[in-house]
Amino acid sequence: MLKTHNCGELRIEHAGQRVTLAGWVQRHRSHGGVVFINLRDRSGIVQVTFDQETAPETFSVGDLARAEWVLQVEGQVRRRPEGTENPDMSTGQVEVVAERAKVLNQAKTPPFYIDREAGEAEILRLKYRYLDLRRDRMQQNLILRHKVVKFIRDFLAERDFVEIETPILTKSTPEGARDYLVPSRNHPGQFFALPQSPQQLKQLLMVAGFERYFQIARCFRDEDLRGDRQPEFTQLDLEVSFAEREDILNLTEEMFTRIVEEVSDKKLLFKPFPRLTYHEAVERFGKDNPDLRFGMELVDIGDLVVDSDFAIFRQAVIEGGRVKGIRAEGLANYSRKQLDELASFVQRHGAKGLAWLALQGDQVRSSFAKYLSEDTVAAIVKRMAGQPGDLLLFVADRSPIVAEALGRLRVELASRLGLRDPDVLAMAWVIDFPLFGWNEEEKRWDPSHHLFTAPMAEDVPLLYSDPAAARGQQYDLVCNDYEIGGGSIRIHQREIQEKVFELIGLDVEDARQQFGHMLEAFEYGTPPHGGIAPGIDRLLMLLAGEPNIREVIAFPKTQTASDPMVGAPSPVTEAQLRELHICLLEDS
Ligand code: AMO
Repeated sequence: MLKTHNCGELRIEHAGQRVTLAGWVQRHRSHGGVVFINLRDRSGIVQVTFDQETAPETFSVGDLARAEWVLQVEGQVRRRPEGTENPDMSTGQVEVVAERAKVLNQAKTPPFYIDREAGEAEILRLKYRYLDLRRDRMQQNLILRHKVVKFIRDFLAERDFVEIETPILTKSTPEGARDYLVPSRNHPGQFFALPQSPQQLKQLLMVAGFERYFQIARCFRDEDLRGDRQPEFTQLDLEVSFAEREDILNLTEEMFTRIVEEVSDKKLLFKPFPRLTYHEAVERFGKDNPDLRFGMELVDIGDLVVDSDFAIFRQAVIEGGRVKGIRAEGLANYSRKQLDELASFVQRHGAKGLAWLALQGDQVRSSFAKYLSEDTVAAIVKRMAGQPGDLLLFVADRSPIVAEALGRLRVELASRLGLRDPDVLAMAWVIDFPLFGWNEEEKRWDPSHHLFTAPMAEDVPLLYSDPAAARGQQYDLVCNDYEIGGGSIRIHQREIQEKVFELIGLDVEDARQQFGHMLEAFEYGTPPHGGIAPGIDRLLMLLAGEPNIREVIAFPKTQTASDPMVGAPSPVTEAQLRELHICLLEDS
């Protein structure tokens, strides 16, 4: 090796030792006849001193070097002179006095500082990702990712799981997003699809008798991107035969508890993880991936206002909708402008408007109280547990709109009130999802999770009488306003699978065409089985306290699904297209 020690490991115990270091110039300071360079490698930074008097040739190398040059330095470690120690650096007690130095490589001036972040545009960071990744924060994120994945592999291997790779060139899987397609050269006009998840393959591995499978699996989904979505992402995909829901929940819960406690510096809010039914989550928090770090629950006041003169509230209830509110502690002094802003916020999430009631001392300021009797207002305040200083906010509409608007407003207000401590992880289970949702456009049922999810055993008859009421054996792992994993116990009997196909509008021929391999496999002795797939990127984002998953992926795509570093996607040659039997449309 071109070095004997790592920069970041030098301590007072090394004083007096000769060391050879190799790394990048993080910072360069010149003080006349002395130059100080902070030399960086992956382990950290140490100060190297170049003295013109004692080592003039070496000094000139140090003097010439600039940020991000690569140097090799040989010298002696010494205790820093008293008063010059740097308590902010782990090597801050010592410095290396350069006796010999060599420029291993020069560097152009980087497009941004490596030692600090100055709010540069993300597109610039992604274009020069290899420089962005030199930064300590990004190095720590990727090292944490490595540790988490290693922990997962060890944890599952100890429990008899086998890691098996499944193909990337495969057939479309119905996870609900658009597929990435790969044209086949050998089969003109035919395409592979990149897997949206290894769902079918892991089930086939259960048919194959592996009993306990896992994979750190790359998945591809062509969907609208957000902070927690990438076109290419990684799941911890696992599947277990002869397992019931409880087994999968317990296994996952133990693994995630230990990851948080043993690998990260975050704190788990709940042990064990609470379990909410889907219905309860939506009723109380407006979402099926609630942030449980704070209360501010949705409260129904429909019964109090159904007979009132306030038409917006009354009508909503009469038409079968809901009137619900949340209590924002201490925000009674919000100005008209701020309240209008909140109204625009809920409008962006589908609500028509926002009704508000501010409890300022013993006075009530409100957008609607004048239409209600004093008793009704008092009853509302009581139901909402309103205290002086609180702001009560209400939405009246169809039930899903009320949930969506207030669910999001609740999270927005909690952010403003500082109730979302990033060091705390509130992991929880959401269970008992409806098996289907009605697709009004297509006039058919859509699976809430995917079409292999089994109904609850006691709800099987409902498939034939009232599919809307049937619950699935689905479970989601949620944390801090994110869904970090989803899974289910699967259907393993052909009749039930065919009934589900029928309900989602796939006739026998379509089903054969798309899933013939699954239906056929199910006839060869399929064990009961189930599994889960937590998203590794979302988990890491939370463990690292990052605002989006791009910060925990080495080479992510931009928000418009491109890679500015390598310049992908990119046009290809005519010859390549011809070979693939592809002809581009005029406008593309
Ligand atoms: P599901 O579609 O719920 O289930 O996905 C499981 C988890 O994968 C992560 N995830 C994503 N992460 C980043 N970017 C994306 N575009 C993205 N989409 C999903 C989330 C999510 O909770 N085969 C089933 C699992 C099973 O039933 O076992 C599946 O893929 O963290």
